[in-house]
Amino acid sequence: MSHRGPIFAVVLAAGKGTRMKSNRAKVLHTLCGVPMVNYAIEAIRPLSPERLLVVVGHQAEEVKKVLPPDTEPVLQREQLGTGDAVRVALEAIEEKEGILLVVNGDGPLISARTLMGLVERHRSAGVGATVLVAELPDPSGLGRVMEDAGVVRIVEERDASEEERKIRLVNLGLYAFELGEIRRAIGLLEADNEQGELYLTDALEIIGRRARAVTYLLEDLEEANLVNDRSHLARAEEILRRRILDAHMREGVTVRDPASTHIEAGVEIGRDTVILPGTFLRGRTKVGSDCVIGPFSDLSDTIVGDGAVVEHSVGRGAKIGDRVVVGPFAYLRPGTVLEEGSKVGAHCEVKNSRVGRGSKVPHLSYVGDAEIGEGVNLGAGTITANYDGKNKNKTSIEDGVFTGVNTSLIAPVTIGRGSYLGAGSVVNKDVPPGKLAVGAPARAIRDISGAGGEKSEAGEEE
Ligand code: UD1
Ligand code: MG
Repeated sequence: MSHRGPIFAVVLAAGKGTRMKSNRAKVLHTLCGVPMVNYAIEAIRPLSPERLLVVVGHQAEEVKKVLPPDTEPVLQREQLGTGDAVRVALEAIEEKEGILLVVNGDGPLISARTLMGLVERHRSAGVGATVLVAELPDPSGLGRVMEDAGVVRIVEERDASEEERKIRLVNLGLYAFELGEIRRAIGLLEADNEQGELYLTDALEIIGRRARAVTYLLEDLEEANLVNDRSHLARAEEILRRRILDAHMREGVTVRDPASTHIEAGVEIGRDTVILPGTFLRGRTKVGSDCVIGPFSDLSDTIVGDGAVVEHSVGRGAKIGDRVVVGPFAYLRPGTVLEEGSKVGAHCEVKNSRVGRGSKVPHLSYVGDAEIGEGVNLGAGTITANYDGKNKNKTSIEDGVFTGVNTSLIAPVTIGRGSYLGAGSVVNKDVPPGKLAVGAPARAIRDISGAGGEKSEAGEEE
């Protein structure tokens, strides 16, 4: 046996996860925004395996989509059990020597440290197989472990006798095998159990009899939170969520109410930012320093600069600049860029638009496909009518424009620099710089540069 040989890692992720009662494969369910299978992969990575295989089957195409490019999916056509899944993985490995590290895809809290310990134990014991076990207060649902003179036997709960069910030492579904031994043992498996499946656990007993097997006891029981149903999923996610929050707090972020704050893995937050209760930060969201986010803000894939305030608002793929004030009750959709010191206030929606430095969209507005310059003030209820039923059209509002309440901008339209739009005006043609436009639709465009007496271009007034 070659206990110093390379590690070939296999994640078992082909199962359906019947107990999840889901239309989605179990390993695709997310914890803190990350699919379950990716936790197993990330825990393996620090061991620098020669290859990292993932056995896929149920919803294989969907599972493949979430796998990192340096992993190799192998297809298990029919889910005939964990033993069969390992058989499929072995078909993809030609080497005769090395360690096969098998990791069930449903243990998102298992750490790299534990996997390293397992491999270390396997190497130093010089055995054919090593299995990770834990002594649990409630072992229900898991395989029970019996160890005797170099033979480790695991019996599934459904196949166990009354006496065996009392055992609290359980199999956590992580194993180190000598390649040659596991290859041989898999060939000998039979499906003579309650589920009619090929059990990987039976291979352990076969190997034990020939080349000895040992157990490796898990130290941190938190890692034993395997996911087989939705309440397990919630419990595991809660632990991961707290870990993420603790990490941010250690780095100088204030989290007012950790119990109601949800920050996904991978979100970045600067120092002295305060996260208020009921806030969700998801995906590739990045928040700068000295911000106040929440209460009840929900940002995904949103970039926030320094010193910004985002109160009770939703952001999806938006960019919020330094010292911008958002909310309460703003909805920022993809393509929104709010430049430094700008403001989007109560009950406003912004989509695919730029709001220039210091400009304000304070109340009840819809801004879509618009380019807004600097120092602009949109009156309450200013709306860009960007969609004519066929096309999305652009609105340009140049620097220093001021719109009255309930202004409608019928795109495509440009409002020139420094112009004023009267309250309730419906603007369906371009307004040159420095003019006042009033009316619905705006039939009158008047010069506002001089004092009074000017003529309207359309010759009519409302
Ligand atoms: C398995 C173990 C059990 C252990 C438990 C720990 C066996 C027979 N039993 O039971 O002793 O306590 O894990 O979690 O191994 N999978 C496949 N292909 C299949 C079947 C399963 O890839 O044909 C994958 C699943 O996607 C999952 C993993 O293997 O990630 C374990 O499968 P699961 O059905 O959850 O096994 P358990 O019944 O929990
Ligand atoms: Mg399981």
